[in-house]
Amino acid sequence: MRLDKLLSHTGYGSRKEVKEWIRKGYISVNGVVIQNDDYKVNELEDEVLFLDESVHYEKLVYILLNKPAGYVSATFDLHDPTVIDLIQEYQKGIFPVGRLDKDTTGLLLITNDGKLAHNFLSPSKHVNKVYEFTFAGKFLPSYFSKFQEGILLDDGYLCMPAVVEIDQLQHGFITIQEGKYHQVKRMFQALGLEITSLKRISFGSLSLPSHLKEGEYVYLTEAEIQALF
Ligand code: URA
Repeated sequence: MRLDKLLSHTGYGSRKEVKEWIRKGYISVNGVVIQNDDYKVNELEDEVLFLDESVHYEKLVYILLNKPAGYVSATFDLHDPTVIDLIQEYQKGIFPVGRLDKDTTGLLLITNDGKLAHNFLSPSKHVNKVYEFTFAGKFLPSYFSKFQEGILLDDGYLCMPAVVEIDQLQHGFITIQEGKYHQVKRMFQALGLEITSLKRISFGSLSLPSHLKEGEYVYLTEAEIQALF
């Protein structure tokens, strides 16, 4: 990676500003002052100093996992395997963006980019999450408008409007923009229905690829990462 790119990626200023620091001789690589901004560094191995401060490069990664049931959405758990256990390569500081219940399957984003997680999790950002579900009970026609008006949960919380589609007996899709604890299950419970399986199939601009089996994951492409922001 070019020296100026490394410095701007690690927060030392805009590309223009860091070129100035380099020209002034503030930067050393493996003990040698480097004054040309297109100097190539190995960002994982070279020792880069800004004056006497060490410059740490951490590559941001974005992983789309098809979560199987039985795994908890956490980085550590005393009793159950976590979604991080499914990632074969060691990636520093990765965590799941939001939570899926232990028995929920489907699309889960895993990253080490804290800023992205913040953007995605706030309901005010209106990021759509689509879940496929099966349920037990009788879905009455009047329930569609109840979901659209906002379901009142057992703890008194009024949900934001949600869109439900029932395409087969006991099977459908729901789009929500929030992520309260057990939200979809509790929305159905509020109407006397029981969710019997739940799978997230999309999250913002991301969709669960049909070829991705449970437990498998892919790294997002540059274009998919851009679309997230
Ligand atoms: N709603 C739920 O009830 N559970 C999930 O895992 C996700 C949304």
